[in-house]
Amino acid sequence: MNKLAVLVSRTGTNLRAMHAYGLEIALVVADRTCPGLTFAREQNIPCILLERTDFSSSFDRYAYTKNLTHLVRQHNITLIAMAGFATILDTPLFDAYPGKILNTHPSLLPAFKGASAVRDALAYGVKVTGCTIHIATLALDSGPILAQHPVLVHESDTEASLHQRIKEAEYRLYPAIIANMLCS
Ligand code: GRF
Repeated sequence: MNKLAVLVSRTGTNLRAMHAYGLEIALVVADRTCPGLTFAREQNIPCILLERTDFSSSFDRYAYTKNLTHLVRQHNITLIAMAGFATILDTPLFDAYPGKILNTHPSLLPAFKGASAVRDALAYGVKVTGCTIHIATLALDSGPILAQHPVLVHESDTEASLHQRIKEAEYRLYPAIIANMLCS
């Protein structure tokens, strides 16, 4: 049985969905104070704030990733699910957990990689977008795809309304994929 850590930065609604699904979450790590971290505290899920204080171009991504890798290893974590984690990580974590880091991305990859996937899909005028659950690798949003779910774009959609429907697809798909990986 794998031991799961979830990485969060923002609202943490995917973390909530994992918890509601009944996944055993051994550790939550946040890179900033955020509602996801508050939720973990409220639910008595072991959680750690590994605060990122530098958002400038001189941010030491390698050192931050080394600290994170050390932390999850200390907790005997064997599977990591990124759930809206907003810091791009460096080699130490990917080397330590090859094939064991999962991510959910709010587009049908390989379309619309990056941080503004929902806005970019709307701006492009696609009629169908969705979510992708994939293995995270050093190359951003480019690892092997595990599952996808389509979401229709409505004429009246704003970035927020479309993202909300994509998230609802994520809430159904991501916990099920993690559950599968937890016992593999
Ligand atoms: C999700 O839409 C996920 O695809 C993206 O960030 C969002 C996280 O939302 N990477 P939340 O923090 O789980 O609400």
